[in-house]
Amino acid sequence: MPDSILVTGIDELATASPQPVENSSTDGEGLCILRAAAFVVQDGRIAWLGKAIDAPAADQRLDLGGRAVIPGFVDSHAHLIFAGDRAAEFEARMTGTPYSAGGIRTTVAATRAADDERLRGNVRRLVAEMARQGTTTVECKTGYGLTVEGEARAIRIAREECDATTFLGAHVVPAEYANRHGEYVDLVRGPMLDACAPYADYVDVFCERGAFDEDETRQILDAAKGHGLAVRLHANQLGHGPGVQLAVEYGAASADHCTYLSDEDVAALAGSSTVATLLPGVEFSTRSPYPDARRLIDAGAAVAIATDCNPGSCYTSSMPFCIALAVREMRMSPAEALIAATLGGARALGRTDVGHLTVGARADFAVLDAPSYLHLAYRPGVPLVNSSFKEGIETARR
Ligand code: NIG
Ligand code: FE
Repeated sequence: MPDSILVTGIDELATASPQPVENSSTDGEGLCILRAAAFVVQDGRIAWLGKAIDAPAADQRLDLGGRAVIPGFVDSHAHLIFAGDRAAEFEARMTGTPYSAGGIRTTVAATRAADDERLRGNVRRLVAEMARQGTTTVECKTGYGLTVEGEARAIRIAREECDATTFLGAHVVPAEYANRHGEYVDLVRGPMLDACAPYADYVDVFCERGAFDEDETRQILDAAKGHGLAVRLHANQLGHGPGVQLAVEYGAASADHCTYLSDEDVAALAGSSTVATLLPGVEFSTRSPYPDARRLIDAGAAVAIATDCNPGSCYTSSMPFCIALAVREMRMSPAEALIAATLGGARALGRTDVGHLTVGARADFAVLDAPSYLHLAYRPGVPLVNSSFKEGIETARR
């Protein structure tokens, strides 16, 4: 049997537990916190958790020297399989050119020209970058191949390197199908989905002005269901539209972006199990209005925060940065933001074993060079993650 490890020297353990933990205190927004805490890792899981003074013996001991510990972040929305960057597009945007879905085609051209090793190297670099910032679970979408072969190799590589994979052949209509939208939709829901389905956990559609409309989205979601695949949707990012209602109707795991919502959209999300995934890095990087997180939370919708790391609308891999934005710009409390970036992300991926630190959960956690999780928003831009652990094994150290 592998050694058990007692992790101790934890001044503050933010558990993000959905249920109260013994000896913990709960702050105003339901974040369950243990002070002077310790936990035992056995077989990659939390075997015991409580006050350090009550800790059982273990084979090994890891003393964190009085730091704060949080669950590893669950980044439930990222686009990591691509080549090149779009720094010039960002520069133009910051001097007045608005963001549009069309920029995706620039990355499609660069991605098609890259070999597998280059794509794999890039996704590994980004996953490692995320780990250094406390992320231990990563979802990854395709969407920069947009041919049967290009999407199939993207989802295969994503499957090797990431924890959850999403087929996003319906990202944008590629240039060679410019006047043949219907044919492209047929390709996506037919041969492209056939090739990608064995490697995909989810199917996603960019249901947005300049991308795919309601009818096209329905066709692709129906095909996904036909393959027995769960769905998620890019919805209501650039304007009001049918995305959120479709996400709820189809029982999507998440509706992502949710920037422009009607009262009916908010009510539909609140009355469903579809998680509203907010991506504040996108609004920051496209200089756009932020989604109204308070409206969603106050209505009772489940909310997640993710990075949307991609070379166009938001090239950050930093969940701490997104937490700081959520608190400062979307009026989420620091506790709500932490829960959304951990437990919320896990819910958006249908995972119950990550996103919280409780007995039986995976020992996925981040150690902060700070006395409290509050510092994530209080000290924006400061690299506070000391180290990250996945199943009790260190994956990154600063
Ligand atoms: O979530 N569907 C949009 N996809 C990304 C943008 C991708 C890009 O601009 O390259 C998003 O914002
Ligand atoms: Fe996205």
